[in-house]
Amino acid sequence: MNRTYEPKKAPSAQKNYLKTYEHSLKHNHDFWMETSKRLDWIKAPTKSLEGNYEQVNFKWFDDGVLNVSINCIDRHLPTKKNEVALIWAKDELGEYERITYQQLSENVGRCANMLKSLGVKKGDRVCLYLPMIPELVYSMLACARIGAVHSIVFAGFSAESLRGRIEDAKCNIVITANEGKRGGKLIPLKQITDDAIAGFDFVKNVIVVHRTDAKVNYQKKDVKYEELVVKQSAECKPESMKAEDPLFILYTSGSTGKPKGLLHTSAGYLLYASYTHELVFNYKPGQIYFCAADIGWVTGHSYIVYGPLSNAATSVIFESTPLYPAADRYWKIIDDLKVQIFYTAPTALRTLAAQGDEWLNTSKRSSLEVLGSVGEPINPEIWEWYYHKVGHEKCSLVDTWWQTETGGILISPIPGVTKMKPGSATLPLFGVEPIIVQAENGKIQTEIEAQGALCLKRSWPGQARTIYGDHERFIQTYFSQYKGFYFTGDGCNRDADGFYWITGRIDDVLNCSGHRLGTAEIEGAIVENKNVAEAAVVGYSHDIKGTGIYAYVVLQKGVKASDDIIKEIKASVQKGIGKFASPDIVHVTTGLPKTRSGKVMRRILRKIACSEFTGLGDISTLSEPNVVELLIEERKKIK
Ligand code: PRX
Repeated sequence: MNRTYEPKKAPSAQKNYLKTYEHSLKHNHDFWMETSKRLDWIKAPTKSLEGNYEQVNFKWFDDGVLNVSINCIDRHLPTKKNEVALIWAKDELGEYERITYQQLSENVGRCANMLKSLGVKKGDRVCLYLPMIPELVYSMLACARIGAVHSIVFAGFSAESLRGRIEDAKCNIVITANEGKRGGKLIPLKQITDDAIAGFDFVKNVIVVHRTDAKVNYQKKDVKYEELVVKQSAECKPESMKAEDPLFILYTSGSTGKPKGLLHTSAGYLLYASYTHELVFNYKPGQIYFCAADIGWVTGHSYIVYGPLSNAATSVIFESTPLYPAADRYWKIIDDLKVQIFYTAPTALRTLAAQGDEWLNTSKRSSLEVLGSVGEPINPEIWEWYYHKVGHEKCSLVDTWWQTETGGILISPIPGVTKMKPGSATLPLFGVEPIIVQAENGKIQTEIEAQGALCLKRSWPGQARTIYGDHERFIQTYFSQYKGFYFTGDGCNRDADGFYWITGRIDDVLNCSGHRLGTAEIEGAIVENKNVAEAAVVGYSHDIKGTGIYAYVVLQKGVKASDDIIKEIKASVQKGIGKFASPDIVHVTTGLPKTRSGKVMRRILRKIACSEFTGLGDISTLSEPNVVELLIEERKKIK
């Protein structure tokens, strides 16, 4: 059943969606020049977009000069210095720490001077491997202040993953913590960092924040954050940055094994994060805004830090998990802090809904006005649960579609403006022009009702500009399938109202619990195990995670399948990537379905993983058609 919900009370300026949308496309330059005024520039730009998708070279506001940290801090100080910038909701229940804009300014200034004292200069890369603590935000903004480029690695990644990322970006400083604390558990981040940088002479210093009292093994390169930072002045002169100077690198998974470092630049990214944060969440001054993502992913970059802080919002940083100490943790925070805007992923909502509705009874959530969803398609049942049960039917629900590559939200309802349809990300934001192309031949679907591959026809300021150190891969990955368009990797339907329904990835990427993982990356980690000859990883439908990870594994000759081997295989993935990438199902078998040229038939493996045993297509061209029958029999026995 396709339900529709009328927009909640009209907000802001954007009541006439269609008119503004048409204007934004037709007068794109004027639209973005006008929008660019929301930032404080050292030198205002006179140009908007230059370049195009044919050349895969595009720039925004190229003659503008600004500093991102001025926009997130200094410009708020004259009127808002005593307002709260960050509320740190610690791992421990009910413990909060508030940081005003004045304090943020001082902490960022000191951190920036500390980095300078260690020789960090404009353009240098700094790796941040930190838990959800205020020092992560200080470090990001300190980098921005002095023109260094941060590369944040989610604190759930293993030493090997961290190592690859530090090496790729040639980071000469790493900021980490002695330990992280999450859901009552301790994570030995410093130890992991030491393992990750072993033998890397180019890493000059490791700065260690002390989140707990635990002593760690200090090396020659180590610097204690607290000891060095207190010696610094709180004032640090901001660098003048060109609009297109890099702001950060963020690694994400793709179809091939090696993660890609997407590069975002200063002005366009900030403008887009700032603009969409206000528009999509109908953010109004003084509101408390809680995005429950981790800053290690793009959602946290754009919608915990850069978007909200550039708008002088109060942004909550949540260190724990939705289940710790119990399944009402989010709701307690919402009541404690009087949160008006809450943003999370469907996987978290499914986890909580599965615990039972009684967990909603310990809170009222009456402050809420806007609920957001991100990271994967939200199934209509969970949408309804979120809307009716969590939001008491009072809130706008924004299902926001975007990606690491897009920098900010591209398709989403606007509160008070767009009709809401459970399961649909609805309509493009202003200045954004999605198209649907036929996956096989790239033909643009001109009918309103359409299905195919989701592409973008024109650039927007928040778009990633390249893959760090590998522009050719950037071109190949996003601009070669469908010439002249940006290919998102997602499948999509458009309904008769022109509403977009994202169906999920159509490349070899999985959205597992809102984490983005490349199947090739997981396979690579599995075959590191010496007992494994071959592996093929696919996704399957999982009640909580959305997509579960299903690994077909062929063992080396003479190795017997056992529970221990399966444990070992999971451990290989934990070591190679991180615990969150561990396969849900390991299916040990004797052969994979392959074409005569040796290509693994993933289509068949996907169907079998989903227990769909009919409609497997023509299997007569396989080199060993019997393999399929065997796999089906084995699948029936796996829970
Ligand atoms: O498949 C889409 C899915 O998440 C992918 C992007 O993942 P990542 O770069 O990790 O960024 C996640 C946070 C922005 C997309 O290609 N995705 C994201 N949001 C939605 C979504 N799928 C459906 N609906 C969404 N609202």
